[in-house]
Amino acid sequence: MTLRLHAALLTIFLVLALLAHPVLSSALNVAQGVASFSREDFGQVDGKKVERFTLTNRNGVEAKIITYGGIVVSLKVPDRQGKFADVVLGYDDLEGYLHDDAYLGALIGRYGNRIAKGRFKLNGTEYKLATNNGENHLHGGVKGFDKVVWNGAAAKTANGVKLTLNYASRDMEEGYPGNLLATVIYTLTNNNELKIDYSATTDKDTVINLTQHSYFNLTGEVQNDILKHQLTINATRFTPVDAGLIPTGELRVLKGTPFDFLQPALIGSRIDAEDEQLKLGRGYDHNFVIDGRRGTMRKAATVFEENSGRVMEVWTSEPGMQLYTGNFLTGKPGKSGKPLQFRSGFCLETQHYPDSPNHPEFPTTVLRKGARYRTTTVYKFSSR
Ligand code: GAL
Repeated sequence: MTLRLHAALLTIFLVLALLAHPVLSSALNVAQGVASFSREDFGQVDGKKVERFTLTNRNGVEAKIITYGGIVVSLKVPDRQGKFADVVLGYDDLEGYLHDDAYLGALIGRYGNRIAKGRFKLNGTEYKLATNNGENHLHGGVKGFDKVVWNGAAAKTANGVKLTLNYASRDMEEGYPGNLLATVIYTLTNNNELKIDYSATTDKDTVINLTQHSYFNLTGEVQNDILKHQLTINATRFTPVDAGLIPTGELRVLKGTPFDFLQPALIGSRIDAEDEQLKLGRGYDHNFVIDGRRGTMRKAATVFEENSGRVMEVWTSEPGMQLYTGNFLTGKPGKSGKPLQFRSGFCLETQHYPDSPNHPEFPTTVLRKGARYRTTTVYKFSSR
């Protein structure tokens, strides 16, 4: 073989190796201004293979999502200098997620938040669910949608990349009626949005309330608490709770209270105020009634972190949003062994109101046989 042929073969080999390498090929795609995705094995659970998908948009924003629980394990977005950092709490490996009890980054189903005493009536039948939170049912039960393996498939879209996750939940799984087919599509758009489209169908009337439980820290450093994040919430009312964090049924006007985020305020500015509701939640752990017409996309919240300049907007079609300020985090080790401290992440969980199946006056969470459940939420990132 001539020297020239050798050199040519070597070049071809190097180019192919470069393209096959997930990190380098996504960097190449970003340099060329195109979105891309890749897939890796991430261990096994219940004899099922868990995969990790990496979605990268054309600006280099990157989301890593695993098929166990549909968990967003990392989300890298730029600060005002263009420096990327991971803005979600999590663990380094599957083991961490298997032992997690804080729902870090996970999809929540069949029912986000609490159902009082794990009981509800539908069409005259009383259903009994697991009571996995004191006397109440929380986040879908003992083995909710955060603890099952979903089927995943990634693809490019007109303006980004998406991961489609499917899960078939059996009739009476965790006590809920109906065989439910759930689909969640995560789309990372070239406008730096992580868009989540939830849909489901059932073969028997049931209740459903899907959400996403990412803990954000826009500083990108889990050792910083989230108290200096500035928050605006498009809500004039919230649903006060009892000692078990179950809504009392009241839709309380929040003007002038520590729950008033109609004007931007630091999360920490009133979090320890003398307030019965804050005491019950050990901080914020409440559902806000998002203003505007439910079922239509409208802005629910804006979060701004001054040091990094990072901004996150939340848009949703849902009637409510849970503001949870990580009050139950206790310092368990997370990524790189760093402790997940009290209030080191905040969640903005778009949802129907907690315990709606027992509150006929709340927007309904009943999904009828043959109907399709559909909701959309967008987390949009920018900087200023
Ligand atoms: C939130 C809920 C909190 C807590 C948390 C998980 O959605 O409102 O009370 O249960 O999840 O630790």
